[in-house]
Amino acid sequence: MEKKLSEDFKKRFKVKPEVVASAPGRINIIGEHTDYNMGFVLPAAIDRRIYFLASSRVDGKIVIRAENFKEEDSFNLPISGKSKTKKWSNYIRGVLWVLNKRGKKIPGLNILIYGEVPLEAGLSSSAALEVSCIIGLNSLYHIGFSPKEIAKIGQKAENDFVGVKCGLMDQFISVFGRKNSAVFLDCLTLEHKIIPFELKSQGLRMLIYNTRVKRKLASSEYNKRRSEANSALDELRKSGFQSFRDISVVEIEKRKKNLEENLFKRAKHVVSENYRVKKAVEALSNNDFIQLGKLLFFSHESLRDDYQVSCPELDLLYECGRQVPACLGARMTGAGFGGSGIALVREEVKNSFKDLLLKEAAKKGFVKPEFYDVEIGEGARSVQY
Ligand code: GLA
Repeated sequence: MEKKLSEDFKKRFKVKPEVVASAPGRINIIGEHTDYNMGFVLPAAIDRRIYFLASSRVDGKIVIRAENFKEEDSFNLPISGKSKTKKWSNYIRGVLWVLNKRGKKIPGLNILIYGEVPLEAGLSSSAALEVSCIIGLNSLYHIGFSPKEIAKIGQKAENDFVGVKCGLMDQFISVFGRKNSAVFLDCLTLEHKIIPFELKSQGLRMLIYNTRVKRKLASSEYNKRRSEANSALDELRKSGFQSFRDISVVEIEKRKKNLEENLFKRAKHVVSENYRVKKAVEALSNNDFIQLGKLLFFSHESLRDDYQVSCPELDLLYECGRQVPACLGARMTGAGFGGSGIALVREEVKNSFKDLLLKEAAKKGFVKPEFYDVEIGEGARSVQY
């Protein structure tokens, strides 16, 4: 892929790329809406990437070609604002904006981007684009950002420039992902551990089900959940708790009477999800995929009923998963309100499970879903020429 894109770059800009970088999208195995609540997550990178190729210019101009759309954007530095028509450009603008704020002067760039991560599918194509851009510029200009800084710069571009108040999980896994491994991340300390996650030898597959629902509510409801969770924690602090992670599943039930109903539900999800992430890591260390599957189902129930970020199309995946014994577990992945879900299935039912979902989705009049049969891939990389 890199070779073909280098040719495309040369054709368009009449020079060779000086750097070729790429970063993966992700699934989150478990630990949803816990990252910004300073809890635990267990994501994994997928083998679909976003590529970023660049060469320097000296005229202060940025020219970006988005190969998927056959579109271009060009503007002068410093960044004056967002593009209204080319959404994809804003992730790169955001990164350049953060770099400028950090005093890194870029003399100008030719850029070509190409993506294999499905867009607006809840698989973190935006984090992959940000990370590929930062890691590429980091090596092109020998800036010396550490891997953690790279993830944080991506998050800052998204939070403060693009305007989505996401946590750090997506950028972190895009940098730190490893082949056939998940990453257990403590979002408070940023300590992380590579957890072997090899499915093939177990006769298992991770199937991605993209609902293709347009997520209109995603960012407004996401921000609302963030603030509800904060309000719940403020209340809980009055009883002496510092963080959701200090509260046990039994303890949170006892606080039910102290919290307004919605706030209690949000808190219950975060507390129980943190517990499930730890249990999932334990299950993986015992090669117990049956137990892992159960935890995926429980996670979905909690996201549907307590955090209330699911939708009928995502619930369908869960319901079909519950009907099919060879589906060990299924749940929504990412922010919710549409986007994608994941199902841990035995190899032999992969196709019949897809057929079942297609049939049931059609019956309900849902948009036709898409499926991706992914492998767990590598984190970001960059090669300088
Ligand atoms: C989105 C955000 C992440 C995380 C998930 C929900 O993917 O970008 O930071 O909050 O939603 O777990």
